[in-house]
Amino acid sequence: MQRLTNKHHLPSIESSRIAQSIGMALDRFIKNNQSQFQYASGELSQLLRDIALASKVVNREVNKAGLIDIMGAVGSQNTGGEDQQKLDVLANIRFSRALEKGGEVCALISEETESFVDLNNEGKYVIAIDPLDGSSNIDVNVSIGTIFSVYRRKSPAGTPIQPQDILQKGSEQVAAGYVLYGSSTMLVYTTGHGVNGFTYEPTLGEYFLSHPSMRIPDEGKIYSINEGSSNSFPKAVKEYIQLCKDKNYTARYIGSLVADFHRNILKGGIYVYPATAKNPNGKLRLMYECNALAFVAEQAGGAATDGSGRILDIQINDLHQRTPFYVGSKNMVEQAMRF
Ligand code: AHG
Ligand code: MN
Ligand code: MN
Repeated sequence: MQRLTNKHHLPSIESSRIAQSIGMALDRFIKNNQSQFQYASGELSQLLRDIALASKVVNREVNKAGLIDIMGAVGSQNTGGEDQQKLDVLANIRFSRALEKGGEVCALISEETESFVDLNNEGKYVIAIDPLDGSSNIDVNVSIGTIFSVYRRKSPAGTPIQPQDILQKGSEQVAAGYVLYGSSTMLVYTTGHGVNGFTYEPTLGEYFLSHPSMRIPDEGKIYSINEGSSNSFPKAVKEYIQLCKDKNYTARYIGSLVADFHRNILKGGIYVYPATAKNPNGKLRLMYECNALAFVAEQAGGAATDGSGRILDIQINDLHQRTPFYVGSKNMVEQAMRF
């Protein structure tokens, strides 16, 4: 089995410098840390600000979901054959518009669109996004999220987008993160130098650093899996779940990947979405769900695999390809892999 653990532990001087920035506004934090980035020219910083801005708009809509007519299904289906919810479509519009206007992104890959969108500009970055994750929880006032991955484009700016710009492995991400629309709204991201979490202050309209240098405990007691499908889980997964029960672990499953992942990062745990009879390659999408969270997990000291190797090393053949997903505390993921 390949090495699962994160090689890039955040040096302690660096973590304590970041810890001293608690309460710092996101914009200032991005600016202060811009020089860490290999191609520091301010464009990635601007892109992160665009994501933050769009997330504030989506947050406003999510918060009012019960009051304005944006709950329920649109009547159409996305590329995965799942019913599109009004908020799925709206969130896709909000993020696409902010990223297009921002001009740093040249191509967009989204759960909600069949093909990628070539923005025909000079932008240096490609983004893959799940604009709204956990759609089934929208109508019932349960936490939902946004997941994003950022890549450098490979072909020269100003030319048509090429497959090599789009089909990049997770290990080539230059930034990734998620927004959690929960009891409070948080933006959590990495640029490959650790993971930092920001909490939204709605009356000020700003994100502030609240969770500096996030680390997932190596060991945890939470397992998150949709056990309703367990009849069709692979034998090894069934055995692993039995082990979790034998060890008196706690089962927690919200059904919003972002929310389940975020809880496990803070408390220690494992999230599993294995192959099932209905979804023989797993349900979750590599490009706009698993890669981003795998990058965040590794940067926080955790691990992410598809059951046989590292998520970030999987070759991409299709924008919407699915993968089994095991992510969370390093020791728990390694133990699950031993099955
Ligand atoms: P999305 O709303 O973007 O389609 O994603 C839903 C995903 C994920 O958020 C969640 O963990 C998983 O689907 C839940 O699937 P099950 O209902 O099969 O457990
Ligand atoms: Mn999703
Ligand atoms: Mn979605």
